[in-house]
Amino acid sequence: MGVEVNLPPMEAWYFDELGEDQRLPHQTNPPQYVSLEKLADIGVLYWKLDADNFETDPELQKIRKTRGYNYKDMLTICPEKLPNYHEKIKNFYEEHLHTDEEIRYCLEGSGYFDVRDKEDRWIRIWVKKGDMIILPGGIYHRFTLDTNNYINILRLFQGEPVWTAYNRPCEEHPARKMYVHQFTEQSC
Ligand code: LAC
Ligand code: NI
Repeated sequence: MGVEVNLPPMEAWYFDELGEDQRLPHQTNPPQYVSLEKLADIGVLYWKLDADNFETDPELQKIRKTRGYNYKDMLTICPEKLPNYHEKIKNFYEEHLHTDEEIRYCLEGSGYFDVRDKEDRWIRIWVKKGDMIILPGGIYHRFTLDTNNYINILRLFQGEPVWTAYNRPCEEHPARKMYVHQFTEQSC
């Protein structure tokens, strides 16, 4: 039964501001999907990996080795497991940037990473089991759970982790300037 649908490996779309609940999809009508190429163009990288075997997955090992991600920890975000849940959820959804990459690998559950495109529009990236994304340092972004209310993620980092978030506006931050220079200025 049912129709065969070739779902894209990862779904991303332009965010529609209408509506209150941040956990809803917020798709436009009709939806405007965003390709992996378009995401790469703003410095966002994506892999689909084997989450059931993440501890021994050679593909993950290769990415970690190539990109120098020697640090890792696991974070479960849900009301029952995350201390200071409400405060953290609120902070994750404040538009912010980091000096370093934000590397997240979804092992279970799902959630939304929103990133700004070059025209300052929100792109919503739906991260599900097996999805690994890298947000470059200096990109404005935010995170929310979806209506599933549960995600278990692996956080990777190069060296000692720095989780400091700089809330927008911070145009003068060196990481922001570097990001703008590298990804949003026209080269002609
Ligand atoms: C964050 C969590 C969701 O750092 O990983 O935004
Ligand atoms: Ni962040």
